[in-house]
Amino acid sequence: MTINYRPPSKPDGQSIHQLIRDSKTLDLNSAYLYFLLADHFSDTCVVAERDGQLIGFVSAYRLPARPDTLFVWQIGVDASARGQGVASTMLQEYEKRPFFDEIRRIELTISPSNMASQTLFARWAERLGTTLETQPYLTEENLGASHEPELLYSMNLK
Ligand SMILES: CC(C)(COP(=O)(O)OP(=O)(O)OC[C@H]1O[C@@H](n2cnc3c(N)ncnc32)[C@H](O)[C@@H]1OP(=O)(O)O)[C@@H](O)C(=O)NCCC(=O)NCCS
Repeated sequence: MTINYRPPSKPDGQSIHQLIRDSKTLDLNSAYLYFLLADHFSDTCVVAERDGQLIGFVSAYRLPARPDTLFVWQIGVDASARGQGVASTMLQEYEKRPFFDEIRRIELTISPSNMASQTLFARWAERLGTTLETQPYLTEENLGASHEPELLYSMNLK
């Protein structure tokens, strides 16, 4: 089945909100936030669509103070489409976008128990010919005891 990868546009906000809600593991933000991402940050976000249904989303933005750094925020794939390379392909979409030539560093955060994400980004680092470094970022003190800490993963691009 063909999967189409593209930048989101404003109407995708609702489906993105539903996808994140259904992921059960990602922090759910307001629908308003996902409309803003789909509209204002379309260039640095990717959606995956199968049969007109949104099955994947990745959000990212260039750090305002360091625009050569891409911060990858939430990534989610519908449970029915996991383990088939959808998340990896969404990340590879960035490599085709004109702005990516200006990116020198990629940052993201992952919670310690999220093995799927750790493997996903380790594979992307390998593909980009670089390595991932980690350091503490947000602790349980910041996020509350019901939220795992978030480690900062970074990779420098050549
Ligand atoms: C994390 C997530 C986006 C991965 O999406 P996906 O489309 O299934 O990932 P891919 O098929 O592209 O797999 C990428 C790599 O991760 C590995 N992987 C995928 N799911 C895995 C799992 N549950 N455990 C361990 N490794 C996993 C794959 O084997 C692949 O590595 P490989 O190339 O060595 O085989 C998806 O599991 C998801 O939406 N999870 C819920 C939301 C979430 O946790 N998001 C990340 C928060 S930071």
